[in-house]
Amino acid sequence: MNTNVLTVTDGRTGKTYTLPIDKGAIRAMDLRQIKVDADDFGLMTYDPAFMNTASCQSSITYIDGDRGILRYRGYPIEELAEKCTFLEVAYLILNGDLPGETQLKDWISQVKHHTMLHETTKKFLEGFRYDAHPMEMLVSTVAALSTVYPDARHVLDPENRRKQIVRLIGKVPTIAAYTYRHSLGLPYIYPDNDLAYSANFMNMLWKMLEPKYLANPVIARALSILFILHADHEQNCSTNAMRAVGSSQADPFLAVAAAAAALSGPLHGGANEEVLRMLDSIGSKDNIPAYIEQVKAGKLKLMGFGHRVYKNYDPRARIIKWTADQVFQVTGRNPNLDIALELEKIALEDEYFVKRKLYPNVDFYSGIIYQAMGFKPDMFTVLFAIPRTVGWLAHWNELMADPEQKIARPRQIYTGPEQRHLPADKPTIRVSVMV
Ligand code: ACO
Repeated sequence: MNTNVLTVTDGRTGKTYTLPIDKGAIRAMDLRQIKVDADDFGLMTYDPAFMNTASCQSSITYIDGDRGILRYRGYPIEELAEKCTFLEVAYLILNGDLPGETQLKDWISQVKHHTMLHETTKKFLEGFRYDAHPMEMLVSTVAALSTVYPDARHVLDPENRRKQIVRLIGKVPTIAAYTYRHSLGLPYIYPDNDLAYSANFMNMLWKMLEPKYLANPVIARALSILFILHADHEQNCSTNAMRAVGSSQADPFLAVAAAAAALSGPLHGGANEEVLRMLDSIGSKDNIPAYIEQVKAGKLKLMGFGHRVYKNYDPRARIIKWTADQVFQVTGRNPNLDIALELEKIALEDEYFVKRKLYPNVDFYSGIIYQAMGFKPDMFTVLFAIPRTVGWLAHWNELMADPEQKIARPRQIYTGPEQRHLPADKPTIRVSVMV
């Protein structure tokens, strides 16, 4: 018996088809041969929200959602978070292997070379209203970089792609920091390339009049770990947006802006902001049972809980909890942590959550750390977008080099009216030109 095939019989015709199974999947296009007659278009699959459709083959990130496993290029997230810097992990995600000493030095120097923004981009940012949301400023400004680097449209050239990738990884933290300074009405701080990636980001956020910014090493390391945890997560909503937009051969600045726009939604990266709003609205441990009842009645969602892929504890949430302890030793304990811990305890025991396999995701604890570091909730998703830029770009590069990929264009099942006609007495629109 050939075990690597699927044999299906079409009940409409009685015909039997044998479809190859490769890596646990059949090819949707193999279904098109299944027809009732020669005029039939052929069988399609219907999969709203891509619940069970692989859109690509990828060698970047592995997730086993049932067992709570996350690996970048084969390395467990726990080992990377413990032993690597963010730029090492970025190199790994983009290139497939960890850098050697010389490669790492060269990579860091390339990224540092691209941290400055063109002065016109700075002016562009100045045009936003004082109360503009930082994430919306980030999305628009990354898109605007497309006008500064028109050479980025040569997306079929691998060398050119590499150049734009480094540019984006260098510039996104600068844009992110400028959105923060803009919200506070503070002058922009230029990058300091003596500093490491996360320390330089802190410098651009928080430097005031001191001649040289000295980053607290515990906070800098915590940011670096948070960046590592958020760097990639295979075919999530924003990466899917990156691939869909990239597949039309739009330039990477526009595609990253589209991906960041997808990330901003409250069901995706925007959840970290919503978690903090939820914890603030709960206010104290006494109010938790009433909140949980509203969630179970379907009136509210427990933000930061649940995941399309993880049906177990999100491994990133565990590392974030550990990182939170380190940060609180510097900043003092965030009182929201007690509410979050109690909420988690109740939710993990409650039948509603247990039955649906709802566990804390990456966003449940990250906001509590960001808040302790002094960020307002509207910056949280921006902090997510900085490292995820690496993942988006790795997927974009993989897509552009994949000979099987074409412009992303799903099918639909049309449910509208059959052909119909306008009333015969409806007059034709005629335009006359006066001379
Ligand atoms: N609170 C309460 N109930 C929930 C939650 C939640 N956070 N998440 C899912 N459920 C319930 C649903 O109502 C549904 O119940 P039902 O079977 O009685 O209808 C069941 O669990 C399954 O949920 P779905 O919405 O079908 O799961 P899906 O995979 O489509 O959604 C998602 C995943 C969007 C993450 C969802 O769990 C959610 O909205 N969570 C809150 C927002 C959040 O934290 N998003 C961040 C995700 S991580 C990231 O993107 C970086």
